[in-house]
Amino acid sequence: MTVPERRRLLPLFTKDVRHANRSSMTCRFRCGNACDHPVPNQSGNEYLGDIVTDAVASRRGVLRAGAIGAAVFGAAAAGVASATPAFAGDGGDGETPQFATPEGVTENDGRLTFRAVPPNTIDAVITPNGYDHAVVIEWGDKVVDGAPDFDIDNQSARAQKRQFGYNNDFVGVLPWGYDEDRALLVANHEYTNEVLMFRGYTTGDVAPLDQIEIAMAAHGMSVVGLSRVEDTGQWKPSRNRRYNRRIHVGTKFEFTGPARGSALLKTAADTKGTTPVGTLNNCSGGVTPWGTVLSGEENFNQYFTGGDGVPADQKPFLVRYGIDTGKHHAADNRRFDRVEERFDLTKHPHEANRFGWIVEIDPYNPDSTPRKHTALGRFKHEGANAILAKDGRAVVYMGDDERFDYMYKFVSERKFAKGNSRKARENNLRLLESGTLYVAKLGYTSAAEIDGTGKLPADGQFNGTGRWIPLVRGTESLVPGMSVEEILVHTRLAGDAVGATKMDRPEDVQPNPKTGKIYAALTNNTDRGKPGKAAADEANPRNLNKHGQIIEITEDNGEQTSETFTWDLPIVCGDPKDPSTFFAGFDKTKVSPISCPDNVAFDASGKNLWISTDGNQLGANDGLFAVPLTGPERGFVKQFLSVPFGAETCGPWVTDDTKSVFVAVQHPGEVTGASVDNPASTWPNGDYGKPAVVCAWRIDGRDVGV
Ligand code: FEO
Ligand code: CA
Ligand code: CA
Repeated sequence: MTVPERRRLLPLFTKDVRHANRSSMTCRFRCGNACDHPVPNQSGNEYLGDIVTDAVASRRGVLRAGAIGAAVFGAAAAGVASATPAFAGDGGDGETPQFATPEGVTENDGRLTFRAVPPNTIDAVITPNGYDHAVVIEWGDKVVDGAPDFDIDNQSARAQKRQFGYNNDFVGVLPWGYDEDRALLVANHEYTNEVLMFRGYTTGDVAPLDQIEIAMAAHGMSVVGLSRVEDTGQWKPSRNRRYNRRIHVGTKFEFTGPARGSALLKTAADTKGTTPVGTLNNCSGGVTPWGTVLSGEENFNQYFTGGDGVPADQKPFLVRYGIDTGKHHAADNRRFDRVEERFDLTKHPHEANRFGWIVEIDPYNPDSTPRKHTALGRFKHEGANAILAKDGRAVVYMGDDERFDYMYKFVSERKFAKGNSRKARENNLRLLESGTLYVAKLGYTSAAEIDGTGKLPADGQFNGTGRWIPLVRGTESLVPGMSVEEILVHTRLAGDAVGATKMDRPEDVQPNPKTGKIYAALTNNTDRGKPGKAAADEANPRNLNKHGQIIEITEDNGEQTSETFTWDLPIVCGDPKDPSTFFAGFDKTKVSPISCPDNVAFDASGKNLWISTDGNQLGANDGLFAVPLTGPERGFVKQFLSVPFGAETCGPWVTDDTKSVFVAVQHPGEVTGASVDNPASTWPNGDYGKPAVVCAWRIDGRDVGV
């Protein structure tokens, strides 16, 4: 690969490092300047490592005995599922794919062969030698019929509701039956950056209402039919838009689960508390083994005003979720309340409770009503990833992306039903409506040696044990003093009450479909170890943690439903020259620098973890990395691609045939001082930065990465 000379950046666009790793512009638009506000988790729960370790030891024997009788439920349940569901056929007319039991095969040995892309600040997508890449779809492209061509000077909410939304984050590529040349793309649109969307934008206080309406419509999700380009790994939007869909802030949803109908979810517009409207800040997500997509509502707090006028007894619940209660509205808030009164909490104090959920959509049924599952709890959901346990129950792993917040898991009550029958489908679509919600509590093997510098303990590992503490089982509360509804709506407080482990911002938490081991990206936490804040522990071993780490969780006895586990940190990120980094013991002189891991994925071999980054603190653009999880090259992190200046890398997605890697390029050119007319990035079209989904493939047609 030839890397062109570094792009010379105007002084205006030197990345300001106000919040350690991100432009202050990103902080303003993405999370409502969350770092300027107090850490929402002010709970005093400290780790109880010894207690947890003892508890784990005493439970293990019980679980081991229980596991003996467990029946193997099928290929997927046995941990050999493919990365995406496969389909039995297309229903006969080539237009209506049906879901079937995952199969999953791969022909490569999983050994990574590409030459790493070096760190760079080039305003382009850079892939290794021998690879090509192209934009699949970008902000403003047509999604549903009737969408006009994008025109930045003639935008309308009506058009945006039919066009691809802004700031694509999660990307899932679902198969279309056995048709290898077609697929369904599902993408999240996390947030808008109005300064980069409209010429002359200042703040929501004075913005024309139609701009606010456009921004509202640019949030949500898109479903887009794809076609393969000839015989390659390249994909483009299909001319057939039958399954295409835009979900946005005006889309009708339904609540499911134990908190459906709760008084906490009722508003003037929905006196039953069952039908919320819209989804916001959809960050990451996952494709389920039953062929639906889960999407996490993350920094929903920033869309609400009027927190000062909420009854005093409700304010602590807003504060724990980072909602400002001290002033009527933040000056740079998007001011959705100017368009829809429900975003003013003084008038509608429960509206904020209707966001912060895991959303499930069925991309194979464009007429289906998307749902918010209360059984999976309410927090700043990064995403959700499901796997089937050996007994057929669905197990979902989730992270709450905030400094010092928690990791969660949900185990369904129902069992997955195989096959394509209507009955099986209906069963599977209800898997997430009832079950047990857990929060993670970690124990440590080397607690006394952790000094906050990242120094490796004498046993050569950051590792320990852990316990999934149940919060709700079915309709039974397991947190003293909290009702089931309170636990599910105010889940963070339930985690506080049971002493969950405060993590360094849990982003994607994803089970490897081949091995069942779980990998979570802990992106960073520059407040770790500050006065009055939780100090480093073995799982979060660095104070003022700028670069983040990856945690690997192994459920005891290989049972996805286990209530105990062991864990270790295979990767402690940063510049490999930095002694506080760790790459599973692999030769650090060979690995790529990596900073701020965010989203993770697996290829079909299950042998490699793919990691995208958000907010590289090492002076180079963000990128996508791959690392072997086993064997002598475990820890050998290599950069697979880099994204344009000012962008973060999202997705990622390796297709089940291993011919294509998809990433979402989010917020190119999002740098303080940039605007439509003064762009910091001109990717992808040479004019101004536009978020877009990209796919990369090998020119020789062989499997990617390997
Ligand atoms: Fe939207 Fe936690 O990243
Ligand atoms: Ca240790
Ligand atoms: Ca993320």
